[in-house]
Amino acid sequence: MKVELLRVDGLRSLVAADLTLDAGFNLLVGGNGAGKTSLVEALHLCGHGRSFRSATPDALIGHDAPGFSIFVRFQDAQGRARQLGLGRTPGTWSLRLDGDPVSLLSDCIQPFAVVSIEPEACGLVSGPGEGRRRFLDWLLFHVEPDFTAVARRYQRALKQRNAGLRAGAGGPELLAWEQEMAASGGAIDVWRRQAVDQLQAPMVEALEAVLPSLGDCSLTYRRGWPAEMGLLEALEEGRGSDRERGFSQRGPHRGDWRLRLPGALEQQDLSRGQTKLASVCAHLAQAAVLRQRLGAWPLFACDDLGSELDPVHLGRVLAWLQATGAQVVLTLTHLDARWDAWRQQSSRVFHVEQGRVRPLL
Ligand SMILES: Nc1ncnc2c1ncn2[C@@H]1O[C@H](COP(=O)(O)OP(=O)(O)OP(=O)(O)O)[C@@H](O)[C@H]1O
Ligand SMILES: [Mg+2]
Repeated sequence: MKVELLRVDGLRSLVAADLTLDAGFNLLVGGNGAGKTSLVEALHLCGHGRSFRSATPDALIGHDAPGFSIFVRFQDAQGRARQLGLGRTPGTWSLRLDGDPVSLLSDCIQPFAVVSIEPEACGLVSGPGEGRRRFLDWLLFHVEPDFTAVARRYQRALKQRNAGLRAGAGGPELLAWEQEMAASGGAIDVWRRQAVDQLQAPMVEALEAVLPSLGDCSLTYRRGWPAEMGLLEALEEGRGSDRERGFSQRGPHRGDWRLRLPGALEQQDLSRGQTKLASVCAHLAQAAVLRQRLGAWPLFACDDLGSELDPVHLGRVLAWLQATGAQVVLTLTHLDARWDAWRQQSSRVFHVEQGRVRPLL
């Protein structure tokens, strides 16, 4: 997938940002508060439908703007020319795909595959399960055509069961929602397990290339209910305790996957840089699975990739990215010695200052 043109206006401090991107490396350089992360956020929004730093899209609207707009012209995984437009005024989306209005955000962003690596990405390895579930589910959103509809069915049934639990609903009433949760949740479990299996080999390869000192790692998967039971049985058996708590404690909404480290090493033993690198590798593996399944690399949008990384490790990540031939957008505050070689290989450098963008090369 390649982005040719990115236009962003009214998103945080960005004003009429207009970038013609190169198919290879693109560097966005600017001081603190210039608007670099906001550009990565705009790309992320086009591929994920949400920001990585604000819960609501309205928070992204510039304080002096009536709304924000993002327009992207790109080639999708099949090499077709596509256009995506996201507009937001308080409380309302206005969405266009290839010039036509679209009502569902998920339909609009479907063809746009961007793997974003941002400074908080460390949370993927060290943070709560929610981020890791979202990571798997985003991959499935792209590679399993039925995933989104099934995941919606599951969420609806879960919400209804939780409401029933709090309202003191009896067994027969809960059963209808439990059956729906079991049917859709069972499918989600199968897809997630497959996704973790597919991530294994590229994750190990990425870690060997980027962080070989860590040793042999693997991925483990937990589906969110006891191994010896079906989901329906687990829900029925858990009713008493779920009623007390007022929510469902079993199901794929409690599923997780983890990086299993070698020997006695625990997650919390990893240094900041190692945690970041492990998380970067998970994103590289995610992209590799997309490439396998869709036939094209996604766009990589990396915000402040260099923070917490020494020159050797940063160089390995950049070499990995370059070897893919994928399109890469990288932000950095200044071009220090670690970036010398990459500046020469970057076909395009943009300067970002006070919400405005100007090409340097
Ligand atoms: N809703 C908003 N409206 C207007 N400006 C905003 C809004 N939200 C954030 N900003 C401002 O936008 C600017 C750009 O922020 P951004 O995070 O993109 O900068 P950055 O270039 O990534 O900086 P850093 O190098 O510090 O990470 C900041 O000055 C911030 O205060
Ligand atoms: Mg930033």
